[in-house]
Order: sequence, then C-alpha cells, then structure tokens
Amino acid sequence: MSEQDDVLRGATGRIVLADNLAVLASLPDESIDLIYVDPPFNTGKRQTLRRLRTIRDEGAGDRTGFGGRRYRSIQLGAHSYLDVHDDYLDFLEPRLVEMRRVLRPTGSFYLHLDPREVHYAKVLCDAIFGRECFVNEVIWAYDYGARTRRRWPAKHDDILVYAKDPNRYWFDDEAVERIPYMAPGLVGPEKAARGKLPTDTWWQTIVPPGGKERTGYPTQKPVAVLRRIVSASCPPGGLVADFFAGSGTAGAAALELGRRFLLVDSNPEAVEVMARRLAAGGGGVVVEAVAGFSAAAPADRADVADLVETPGATPPLEP
Ligand SMILES: C[S@@+](CC[C@H](N)C(=O)[O-])C[C@H]1O[C@@H](n2cnc3c(N)ncnc32)[C@H](O)[C@@H]1O
Repeated sequence: MSEQDDVLRGATGRIVLADNLAVLASLPDESIDLIYVDPPFNTGKRQTLRRLRTIRDEGAGDRTGFGGRRYRSIQLGAHSYLDVHDDYLDFLEPRLVEMRRVLRPTGSFYLHLDPREVHYAKVLCDAIFGRECFVNEVIWAYDYGARTRRRWPAKHDDILVYAKDPNRYWFDDEAVERIPYMAPGLVGPEKAARGKLPTDTWWQTIVPPGGKERTGYPTQKPVAVLRRIVSASCPPGGLVADFFAGSGTAGAAALELGRRFLLVDSNPEAVEVMARRLAAGGGGVVVEAVAGFSAAAPADRADVADLVETPGATPPLEP
C-alpha cells in the first residue's frame, strides 16, 4: 500500500470532521503532493491577550526563529494589540510544522491569507519551510462590492507558495489554462490564439452570489483559483489536501482535474456542504468524524463549538 492509500484508505477522496491538528498528526511523512489552506483569522478559540517577549535561548527555547535559532518566550502581561497576532501565529505554527512534514519531497504548500495577516505569516513560514523554499506570493485580485473613499479599497487576497524542496518541486506550466494577452495585436496571431501563462497576479471574480457555484458556505473561494493551483502544482492522480476545507473548493478542483483529495474541517456544517458538493462529482468519497466530533452533534456542543469558526470572524468578501 502506498502512503497515499494509507491516507485515503483506497478512496478517491476523504472528508474528515476533526481538528486538523489531530488529523495531521496521524498522517504519514511525505504523503501529500499539494497542500492548500485558507485558515480563518479567528480560530474560534477564546483569545487570551498576552504580551510576549522572546529572548535567545538555545537550551530551553520554546520557539524556533530564523536559521533555526531557539528563543524562549516570556509573558510580560496583557492588553497589547500584537497579542492577537501572537495567538494567531501560535495557532498556525504547529499546524504548519505538521503540513511541511506530510508534504512529499516534490510537494508544494499554498497559504491563502489577506493583507492584514500575510506579513506575519510569511516570517513564520520562512522559519518553518526555510526562506529558500519560498516560491511566490500570488495576489488574487477581485473587484466587487463597496469602495471606501478613505484609502485604496482593499480588493485582493495573498497566497504564499512554498516548496518542500526548491530544487525538486512539481510545477507544470503546460497544464495551466492560458489567458488572453492584454494587447494581442502586439504579439502576432499565433501567440494571441495560444494566450499567455498567468503571472503571480490573478484577476478572478469572487463566487457570484446566487450563481451555480455558490454552496452557501460563507467564505467559499472560487474554484477557478483552485483549478489553477491544482493543475500547476499537483501531478495527475496525485493527492491534494486542504486542512481548513470549508465548502471543499480544493476537493472540487481536485475531482474535476483527476486528482485525489483529503479535506478536513472542524465545523459540521462545512462537512455537510462538502459531502453534498463532492458526492455529486462521482463515487469513492469517504466521510468520517474523528472521536469527539459528530456530524450530527448539536452546534453548541462544547468540543465542536469551541473550534467552529465564529460567523463573521473571517472578513467576508464584500457583498
Ligand atoms: C476560510 S474557511 C475555508 C473556506 C474554503 N477555502 C472554501 O473555499 O470554502 C476556514 C475553515 O477553517 C475551519 N477551521 C477553523 N479551525 C479549524 C481547525 N482547527 N481544524 C479544522 N478546521 C478548522 C473553519 O470551520 C472554516 O470552515
């Protein structure tokens, strides 16, 4: 049995209701070709506002910084705005470490964030993956909804891309759907007909409200964005994992493109949406809940509710 069969237990896709850290810890090393995650800003956990200072300590350090240097954190007190970030990064860090571990040597990691968090997360990812493994910052630009007149209206998300090994990672530009040239008259008819490879700035509208693609899950991302990621960064037949899967967009793209998928979410509603969405695409999808989670659980059950995203915590794309 290959590591991938270990992960999927022979299915085309597996959807798991669980805290992703528990699932990650159970996966074999180097078993996943592509990881895409779009974590919420608010983890749903009670936020403890702590103020931390870190000092260099190779012996008893509890954090790893640049170049693998160890630091010890000292709690100074409470009530600092930075503490929110600190909590967020504390939540992400062990999950990112595990995600790196389960990536195959040719694997890629995509982290979807917004401009408020991406810079903090970039520093953390550089420490975990290595700065030399940073491949791209993709800007997903959309143009929808109200525009403030007090600053430049914020209409983009950031997707950080890392390779497990910068010399070996899978990237198939030929598999990516090409896009029209902005000035086709300048490139000649043959090139104009073929179109061009997208750059690191992707113009793509949000999932249209009321459209066919809409699942009703609040933070659903367009399948076109995931299609581009999966076609470039996962070999045909390979395994795509999304550990903050929401409505299962990464699974929908994987299924459409002949890849397999593992989707994890701690919200029973997300699992219901995914199961419905992906069952329609063909058989071979296993849906399960790990101990302590139940798809039939009342939404206020403490062990589930503690991990469920607070509605509105992830800023929704503007209506
Ligand atoms: C922004 S949404 C993902 C949306 C998804 N990309 C889509 O297209 O539908 C983030 C998801 O992470 C889930 N989540 C938050 N904390 C989690 C955890 N510890 N384990 C698993 N899922 C978690 C939330 O329930 C939510 O569905």
